[in-house]
Amino acid sequence: MNRNFVDLIIKKRDKNELSTDEINFFVEQASDENFPDYQISSMLMAMYLNGLSYRETSDLTMAMANSGKVLNLSEIEGIKVDKHSTGGVSDTTTLILAPLTASCGLSVVKMSGRGLGHTGGTIDKLKSIEGFNTEISDLQAMTLVKNNGIVIMGQTENLAPADKRFYAVRDVTGTVESIPLIASSIMSKKIAAGCDALVLDVKCGNGAFMKDFESAEKLADTMVEIGKNVNKRVIALITDMNQPLGNSIGNSFEVIEAMEVLKGNLNGRLKEVSLELGSRMLILGNICKTKNEAVNMLEENIKNGKGIEKFRKIIASQNGNPNVVDDYSLFPMAKCKKVVKAQMSGYINSINTYGVGKASLETGAGRRKKTDLIDYGAGIILRCSLGDRISEGEILAEVYAKTDEMCDNASEILKDSIFIDNKPSVKIKSIIKVIGE
Ligand code: URA
Repeated sequence: MNRNFVDLIIKKRDKNELSTDEINFFVEQASDENFPDYQISSMLMAMYLNGLSYRETSDLTMAMANSGKVLNLSEIEGIKVDKHSTGGVSDTTTLILAPLTASCGLSVVKMSGRGLGHTGGTIDKLKSIEGFNTEISDLQAMTLVKNNGIVIMGQTENLAPADKRFYAVRDVTGTVESIPLIASSIMSKKIAAGCDALVLDVKCGNGAFMKDFESAEKLADTMVEIGKNVNKRVIALITDMNQPLGNSIGNSFEVIEAMEVLKGNLNGRLKEVSLELGSRMLILGNICKTKNEAVNMLEENIKNGKGIEKFRKIIASQNGNPNVVDDYSLFPMAKCKKVVKAQMSGYINSINTYGVGKASLETGAGRRKKTDLIDYGAGIILRCSLGDRISEGEILAEVYAKTDEMCDNASEILKDSIFIDNKPSVKIKSIIKVIGE
C-alpha cells in the first residue's frame, strides 16, 4: 500500500476507490493530533465531491469506530439494540421507547448526545430532572443494566475520536452534507457504543437534516448497507419532520410530554412514531416475532403502568428526583410567558419546523455553540398542528422564557413559521418508509 498521504488524496480526487488499508491509514493518520487539518480537509472534500462506495463507507465507519474505545457489552445477556435519530424538533421518542422497551425485557444501553443548533438532545432533556446523572462510567453502566435493564448515558470521551476530528473539520470546510460521511459518522458512534442491532429514525422534511425524500432514503439505504457489511442488523424508518413531532419544544416540557405518553394520557404522532421504532427494537432484540405482537406489548405496558414505572426507576437509579413523575411543578419553569395568536381564520397549511426550532433557541432552551448554558424551563408549547382548522385570535403557541424580550423574539420567529391558508395542507404520513425489515 502507498503510505504517501498526498498520493491518497490524489487517488480520491481522481475518482478512484480507496482500499481498506488506505482508508485505515487515513483514519490512523488523522488520529495523530499533529497531522495537519488541511490534508484531512482535502481528503474529506475529495470524498464529498466524488462519493464513496458502500465498501469504502463501511471501511471508514469501522476505522472511525475503532479509533477509540469500543464498549464491550458481552457481559449483558441478550441482543443489545440501540436506536438513533438523525435529529428533529420535539423529537422525544427516546424518552418514551427506552423505558418502554426495557419494561418489555429488552436490555437497553442508550448512549445519547446533547442538542446543538435547532434540534434537541436526550441528555439535555434528562438534565432538566434535578440531580439526574448522565456521566456514567462503563462499569456503572453494566451494573445499572444488570439491576434495572437500562441505562441512559452521555457519550464517553473516547467514543470514535476520529469522527470528532473529522466532524470539526467538516463543519468549517463545507463538507457536512455528504451522505457517506454522515452515514459513517453516525454508524461509527453507534458501533463504538457496543450495540448488536440498531433502529434508525431518519427524519425527513423542513425541520430535518434531510429535506427531501430522495436524500433521506439514500442516507437510510447507506446506513442499512453499512450494517450488512459489518454484521449488525439495522432497520431504518424514514419519518416525517415537516412539523414538530410532539407539541412540546424545550427540555422540561419534552420530558413531561414523554411522561404523559407513558402514562397513557397522550396519543398522536409522538406516540405513533415511538411505538413504530420501539416495536422494531423488540423484534431485533428477539423479544417479539411480529410488529403487531410488539406494538400490543408496548401498548399493554403503557396501560398497566410498567413503562412509566421503568422511567421512575431510571431516574432514581441515576440520582435524579423520581418525584418529578407525579409532580411536574418540580421541573424548572421559566417565569415569562407569551401567547402567539392566529392573525386570520383558516387551516394550518404549513409549518417551518426549522423556524420553530430556531424560536426555541431564542427562548434559551437550546445552545448555539457548545459552551452555551441551557435554560431547562424555557421552550414552546404548540397548540396547533398541520391541517387544523383555526379561527382568528385562537392561540397557536405558548412561549416560555426568562425575560419578556426573549419571549417577544421567539414569538416573532414563531409567527413567521406557522402559515395559515384557506385550504388545508396535504396530509403527510408520520412513517414514510421502512428499510431493512
Ligand atoms: N450527525 C452525526 O453524528 N454526524 C454527521 O455527520 C451528521 C449528523
